Amino acid sequence: MEFYDVIRARRAVRKYKPDMVPEEIIYKILDAANWAPSGMNTQSWEFVVVTGDKLEDMGESLARIYAPLAENMDPDKRGPYMDNIRNFFGAPVVILALAPAQKNEVMRKMHLEGVCAAFENLLLAACAEGLGSCWMTGPLQEEAFLRELLSIGEDKEIVAVTPIGYPEFIPKAPPRLDPDLKQKVTWFK
Ligand SMILES: Cc1cc2nc3c(=O)[nH]c(=O)nc-3n(C[C@H](O)[C@H](O)[C@H](O)COP(=O)(O)O)c2cc1C
Repeated sequence: MEFYDVIRARRAVRKYKPDMVPEEIIYKILDAANWAPSGMNTQSWEFVVVTGDKLEDMGESLARIYAPLAENMDPDKRGPYMDNIRNFFGAPVVILALAPAQKNEVMRKMHLEGVCAAFENLLLAACAEGLGSCWMTGPLQEEAFLRELLSIGEDKEIVAVTPIGYPEFIPKAPPRLDPDLKQKVTWFK
């Protein structure tokens, strides 16, 4: 896919086929992440790839977070909706991005921005490979649980989480709020 087509095609995918993603493809998209820019060239991102039993546990954790949000749903829809959440959207793989924990706010920002650049590379590479993803910070509501489950120490900050897998359903692109970039760009000439 052409570069700008990938940028437009990437969607937050929340329903996946169960097919496993080949390990070499996972490494290919992680390699794309690893080529991101970083403050002071620290390349300080780290990734945790989760499949199997621990992914099932992460799905349970996601269900605990989403259950209150689903309370007011039509009862017919709530069951299938929560089943999808409990399966982490049916994704066979989940990837977490980590940054080094920092007390200094300036350094923290620098590392976070580098990790986010890497994470976006990962999501775009996934799209180019025909894979879906969904940048998620919601799972961090169970941060203590995730740390314990995945042995992530306090020396790391969990930045974001994404399911990875072959999409079962790709939502329509949300329209751009300012497609002509009239409000979002200030240009001094
Ligand atoms: C920082 C960030 C946090 C997000 N957290 C979540 C989340 O917790 N759960 C979720 O379903 N989607 C999450 N999203 C995905 C957004 O909802 C999605 O990107 C947005 O609705 C636009 O849709 P698109 O990605 O298909 O363009 C997050 C996206 C970003 C960038």
